[in-house]
Amino acid sequence: TIYILMCLLLSFTIELAVSTPPPRERDQVLCITPTLNEELQFIRQISSQYKTILWHPSSLSDIRNNSEIHLYVNASYAEELKMRLNSAHTTYRVMIEDVQQLIEKQKGINQPLTPRGFSSYYEQYHSLDEIYFWMSQMVRNYPSFIQQILIGPSSEKRLIYVLKIFKGTSPPKGAVWIDCGIHAREWVSPAFCLWFVQHLIGTQDKVIADIVNTLEIYVLPVWNVDGYEYTWTTDRFWRKNRSRNKGSECFGTDLNRNWDVNWCGKGASKDPCSQIFCGEYPESEPEVKAVATFFRQRLNHIKSYISVHSYSQMLLFPYSYTTSNSRDHAELHHVAQKAVNVLKSVHHTSYTYGTSAQTIYLSTGCSDDWAYDMGIKYSFTFELRDRGRYGFLLPMHLIKPTCEETTAAIIEMLYHIVKTV
Ligand code: ARG
Ligand code: ZN
Repeated sequence: TIYILMCLLLSFTIELAVSTPPPRERDQVLCITPTLNEELQFIRQISSQYKTILWHPSSLSDIRNNSEIHLYVNASYAEELKMRLNSAHTTYRVMIEDVQQLIEKQKGINQPLTPRGFSSYYEQYHSLDEIYFWMSQMVRNYPSFIQQILIGPSSEKRLIYVLKIFKGTSPPKGAVWIDCGIHAREWVSPAFCLWFVQHLIGTQDKVIADIVNTLEIYVLPVWNVDGYEYTWTTDRFWRKNRSRNKGSECFGTDLNRNWDVNWCGKGASKDPCSQIFCGEYPESEPEVKAVATFFRQRLNHIKSYISVHSYSQMLLFPYSYTTSNSRDHAELHHVAQKAVNVLKSVHHTSYTYGTSAQTIYLSTGCSDDWAYDMGIKYSFTFELRDRGRYGFLLPMHLIKPTCEETTAAIIEMLYHIVKTV
């Protein structure tokens, strides 16, 4: 027996040795928490020198001491960059060992995907074309509850659609707005919007019935359509839209810096190559113009603005462009607190909450501040899971719990609003 066991063991070992692929270089994401100004300086220097991509915060101007920096580095210089960090005594940890592997998993490469119409369809990431098809199916299957509204073309002339959901028999008492996918690489955000629409339609829940019978729900599943497509075809970590910039080789404007609210002040950039480029002028981007126009036509009707981003696990409310509190601070704080508590009760996920400027960073020209200053009191921004373990590469199996808890939080917020209209 011992002889047989040994043989087995040996063959296993050989098997392992044979099937282990040769080591290859991998794109990685590093987590660095600087403590000294020299380190901050050093990180700024190497991140421009090595063409890294900042995951968090979204701009180098927002890195500060004792706060995590998540930095994507290309395989070809990952080792060199790590050596330089070591010799500068800057501590870091490898947050993601193998970026490419996670990207393939997210796209469902080498994995059978669920056909349309099954519930696990909502536990996957979908391409833009698939999402267009999904929208057309939703309006076809539920013509009395869902309408598809074309709000405009994108910069590359793709169509941007809003779904309007309403089940009431008497006229709506107001409307709420939820947008997903303003930043291209935040894939769990569109996945959430799809989930949420299906949930509103499919559930028997009394509270939700109350909401969809009283309020119109506008859902914009993919706002930055061009950018989203680009993350599927070309660059997984693209954030901005894909418009051309005069006098520059760099593409894209940050659609969350292009609004006419302290436009291009602190926390935004005039550099077209920056991730937080504010654009040529306020509302220069067709994607922003389309939504701004939609809002201006319905100002008294829309009671709430909710924008869904990832990642960080935060629930934010105005202001972003100043560290001062808004007029409705107490109520917004109260609503956020309730929402975060409900969110936690679902899967124990912890969220921080507060004003954007005080909680994440100062930024100007943002959609939530614009909506708020236009008179839409209940203005919120979600940063969904996670806190950086996977960042933008959140695996598919985490879509379901993420959507469940976020849905619970948003329903709690909408219920608060239903009671006030
Ligand atoms: N992460 C998002 C961004 O950089 C949101 C930051 C907070 N600002 C806001 N307006 N909510 O655009
Ligand atoms: Zn974002």
